[in-house]
Amino acid sequence: MNFEFTEEQLMIQQAAKDFAERELLHDVIERDAKGIFAADRVKKLAELGFLGMMTDPKYGGGGMDTVSYVLAMEELSKVDSSISVLMSVCNSLVNWGLETYGNEEQKLKYLVPLAAGEKIGAFLLSEPEAGSDATKQRTTAVDKGDHYLVNGTKNWITNANCASTYLVMAQTDPEKGHKGINALIVDKDTPGISLGPHEDKMGMRASDTHSVMFSDVKVPKENRIGADGFGFSFAMKTLDGGRIGIAAQALGIASGAFERALNYSKERKAFGTLISNHQAIAFKLADMAVKIENARNLCLKAAWLKDQKQPYGYASAMAKQYCADIAMEVTTEAVQIHGGYGYVKEYHVERLMREAKLTQIYEGTSEIQKIVISRALLK
Ligand code: CAA
Repeated sequence: MNFEFTEEQLMIQQAAKDFAERELLHDVIERDAKGIFAADRVKKLAELGFLGMMTDPKYGGGGMDTVSYVLAMEELSKVDSSISVLMSVCNSLVNWGLETYGNEEQKLKYLVPLAAGEKIGAFLLSEPEAGSDATKQRTTAVDKGDHYLVNGTKNWITNANCASTYLVMAQTDPEKGHKGINALIVDKDTPGISLGPHEDKMGMRASDTHSVMFSDVKVPKENRIGADGFGFSFAMKTLDGGRIGIAAQALGIASGAFERALNYSKERKAFGTLISNHQAIAFKLADMAVKIENARNLCLKAAWLKDQKQPYGYASAMAKQYCADIAMEVTTEAVQIHGGYGYVKEYHVERLMREAKLTQIYEGTSEIQKIVISRALLK
């Protein structure tokens, strides 16, 4: 076993860390409080190649491995998960989905500008009545010969407003259940598409989240990904990789809060000594460090399996569940270590705690990951 990163991986990690500290940190609290989407910073992130970092250079991407992606996601998420979630959706849901299952024409037309970061993508699966229970798609894509006519509503869509390219899951043949679902590439400016208001969320308040409504939206047949009825399988396979990105995000939230708590404990005095000299605090720090180390190993193992082209759905579900759950625990302890200061915005840890909660909910709740893990164990 080799636990060492390559020079290239370390360089990417450092570049992400520099970007987060230089470009994101100074106004992250204000953007979160006011729900401001930082389009200018997204542009810079795109120019640095982070939005298409794993896509094959043949299609304009960076050709980097999943381990590098995990390292970059962790560094960005230590500072600002409203930005890292955009990067995760672009890389592991939209670009990977198109690169792996799209045909050559679709890749040249849609993947190339996405991989170059000139355009942003969004992944439209969740619906008002189909969140965890994703087979129950109510959005319809009626086959009209040379095109599909799409109607319905999608919920909680990350990048909904800033994206140009949507990957939309919709039901074509209800009698076939999940085998009647298709995945369609939809240009956001197609007539009939409208957006709900920016969601006023508990955490990651600066990410671009809206519901998206489709009213008689015409989508050309050639925009279907894969064979008729492949859409649900496409979504599940894509989410297997997406969960590595969100696991890395949760890991970053946890390690960001941990670093802040560690530093604070070495500065703050109580009862005549630094609080780090109190076992009550030192033991908390030890527990947090063990959880983060375990989380990092699970996350990197899933990434490594994906890079080795080995099955990784089970590992990514484990990583997603564990990283999200410990992110909630670690950030809660980070707030506790900060005492009253932890409960105000200036010290960042209350924001990280709110962000951690979302990682237990999106791209499959922690309970959904346990379904995936236990089914793999019991089959
Ligand atoms: N890869 C390939 N196929 C898969 C699969 C996978 N990982 N998981 C399931 N399937 C296939 C099954 O083999 C089955 O196919 P067959 O009928 O041909 O055998 C089919 O899909 C249905 O699977 P199940 O019978 O297991 O379906 P289920 O309803 O019992 O459970 C589920 C499926 C795992 C719970 C799934 O619904 C799920 O993952 N739900 C969570 C959805 C989710 O993660 N949403 C996130 C939205 S995206 C997001 O959050 C992005 C963002 O903005 C950050």
